[in-house]
Amino acid sequence: MTKIAPSILSADFSKLKNEIQDVEQGGADYIHVDVMDGHFVPNITIGPLIVESIKPYTGLPLDVHLMIENPDKYIPVFAEAGASIITVHQETCPHLHRTIQLIKSHDVKTGVVINPATPAEMIRDILQEVDLVLLMTVNPGFGGQAFIPEVLQKVKQIAAWRENRQLNFEIEVDGGINQKTAELCAEAGADVLVAGSAVFKQENRRKAIEEIACAAGK
Ligand code: DX5
Ligand code: ZN
Repeated sequence: MTKIAPSILSADFSKLKNEIQDVEQGGADYIHVDVMDGHFVPNITIGPLIVESIKPYTGLPLDVHLMIENPDKYIPVFAEAGASIITVHQETCPHLHRTIQLIKSHDVKTGVVINPATPAEMIRDILQEVDLVLLMTVNPGFGGQAFIPEVLQKVKQIAAWRENRQLNFEIEVDGGINQKTAELCAEAGADVLVAGSAVFKQENRRKAIEEIACAAGK
């Protein structure tokens, strides 16, 4: 069963509560929250206050994607704010194992993410510690960018390692997901598809979610 995680980056922030409830009723599995700091990525978005304020209005897990430098400093506040999964970029964590343990110590699910140009080998030795591996299918920073197909090979590689080592983390992809790319990602081994524009920029969110899930063979 492929899960769909709408990214609220493409939602209408003036009515965020309604937007989240709309996708929850429309069949979403996670709410994906894109946190950007203007340093690691060239955009500034959501902080822990927003996570805290949306938390009471959804029963879905909050899938918090930290695109920030020095994530260790902010993991405790995002955990306290209600994050269900916290995902950190390998590129921002010189002591990745320690950072993953820090997330665990807050009783939050752990995720690790790599950019399109970062090889899978960079996270090979942390796979046994995480609940989620996120593979960026665009360069992080903005919604609405084009899918980078070369990442599919990396999805396959991570899925093969998972099988060989009998691990059970979820594989998530993020960026440029639509009906067409959803099918390719699911075929390659992705379990969770993040979709921003392909859900929130559509009038009928239920239909959008169903179409992506259907393309993924849900
Ligand atoms: C990109 C973010 C994505 C983004 C996806 O930096 O991590 O989650 O919102 O948006 P779409 O689906 O429009 O590419
Ligand atoms: Zn994201």
